[in-house]
Amino acid sequence: MANTASSSPDSGVATDTVAESWRVRDRRAVSGAYSRYTDLVIQDGEGSFLIDVEGRRYLDFGCGIAVTALGYRHPDVTRAIHQQVDGYWHTSVVTQHVRLTEAAEKVASICPDPLDQVFFANSGAEVVEGALKLARQATHRPGIVAFTGGFHGRTFGALSVTTSKVHYREHYSPLLPGVYTTPYPYCFRNCGHGPDEPCPVAMGAELEKLFKHVVPADEVAAILVEPIQGEGGYIVPPPGFLATLRQICDRHGIVLIFDEVQTGVGHTGRWLASDHEGVVPDVVTLAKALGSGLPIGAIVARHDLMNKWPAGTHGSTFGGNAIACAAAIATIEVIQRDGLLQRATEIGDKIVSRAHAWQQQVGGPADVRGRGAMVGLEFMDSAGLPDAERVDAIRAACLQSGLLVLGCGIDDNVIRLIPPLTLSDSEVEQGLQILEQAVLQGGTSA
Ligand SMILES: Cc1ncc(COP(=O)(O)O)c(C=O)c1O
Repeated sequence: MANTASSSPDSGVATDTVAESWRVRDRRAVSGAYSRYTDLVIQDGEGSFLIDVEGRRYLDFGCGIAVTALGYRHPDVTRAIHQQVDGYWHTSVVTQHVRLTEAAEKVASICPDPLDQVFFANSGAEVVEGALKLARQATHRPGIVAFTGGFHGRTFGALSVTTSKVHYREHYSPLLPGVYTTPYPYCFRNCGHGPDEPCPVAMGAELEKLFKHVVPADEVAAILVEPIQGEGGYIVPPPGFLATLRQICDRHGIVLIFDEVQTGVGHTGRWLASDHEGVVPDVVTLAKALGSGLPIGAIVARHDLMNKWPAGTHGSTFGGNAIACAAAIATIEVIQRDGLLQRATEIGDKIVSRAHAWQQQVGGPADVRGRGAMVGLEFMDSAGLPDAERVDAIRAACLQSGLLVLGCGIDDNVIRLIPPLTLSDSEVEQGLQILEQAVLQGGTSA
C-alpha cells in the first residue's frame, strides 16, 4: 500500500502520494530537458532492485541504461569507493596519482593487444569527443565517417555523429563540419538481401560509394562505429562487418574507432563486443558500466597513436577522478573474479531461448537479437510497420508487475534487455515470467 502525503514537502500543493509530492518538486526544480523512461521516484537500490519512495521494489533489466552491471551497491565496489573516500578524492592534472595509473593498467588489461594506453574522462560523450579529436590530431585530416542510426552522445561533436533520431539534432545546427553518414547493416529492416545472402552494406559497398562520390578516403581521419548499435535498436551487424571496416581503414590510413560505451565492460559476454569478431580497432571508447554508476569514461588506444596527441591538446579537470577510478578497478576485478562474462552469456541464452518461443506466438517479437546479456526484441505490427505502441504497452505492463525494462530503436519499437550480470537464476526467471506475460497477453496489433 502506498504511503500518502497531503502536500508536497516544500510547496503546500495537495498531492496524493509521497511519490507524487516528489514529482511536483521535481517538475519545479529540475529541467524539463530530461526525458525520463518512467515516472518512478527512486530512493534506494539493492542488488538487482530499485526501490521507490513508497517502498515498491522493481527488478531492473535496464541497469540505468547499461551501467549498473553489478547491480546496486555491490559490496566490493562499495568498499573500494569507501576506502578511496577516506583517502584523496581529486588531484586533476596537477599531479600524477596512483589510482588513475592503476585504473589505466586495469582498463588496458581488458582490451585486446596492442591497445595499451588510456585517457580518462567522465562520460560517454566526452570519450567520443576525445577519440574524434585524437583521430584528427593523429592524421591531420578533417573527415569523420559515422553510421546512420548511431548514438554517440549529446555534446556538439558527439551529437554531430549521432543520427539515431533527428529529435536529438533539431535546432542545434550548425553541427561539426566534416561528418559523413553511411548506412549501418541493419539487415532485419533495411538491407533487402535474403537471409543466407551476404550483406553488401556489411561488405563495405556503401563506404566505397561514399569514398567515390562524396569524400576521398585520404581526407577521412576516422570511421566511428558501434559494434552493436545501442540506442539505434540493439542491432547486431552480420559477421565480417567489423573486419571489413578494419581492412578499409588499413588501406586508407583511417583511424578505426569502436564506440563500446554501451557494449563494453562485459554485458555481451566478452569485455568488448568487438572481441566476438576478433577485430581490434585503433581506438576504443568505454564508459557506462566501467564505474558501476560513478562517472568515468576511457579512451583506449595504442601508445604509438596516443603519442601523436601532444600534451595539453586535450584534457579534463575531473577525468580520472580517484573515486571513479577506484570504482572502475573494483568493477573489473569483480567481473573477473566472479566469472561474470560467462554469466552474461548464460543470462543472455536464457532470455533469447525464451524470446524465440514468444516469436512463435501471436504478438511475439518479430526479431530477437543480441549478444550475451544485451538483447533486443523488435516489434512490428500486422502491416509490417514498427510498433512503438506495443513496446510502450509491454513496458507499462512490466512496470505494473515490478519489472523495469527500457525501449530503444530508431522507431522506439525495440525492447532492450540489459540486466545486471549478478542476477540470480530465480531473478532471471522472475523477470522473464513478467515479460512473457506482458508480451503474450498484451499482443494486440501483431
Ligand atoms: C554507444 C554510446 N556512445 C556514447 C554514449 C553517450 O554516453 P553519455 O550519455 O555517458 O554521454 C552512449 C549513451 O547512451 C552510447 O550508447
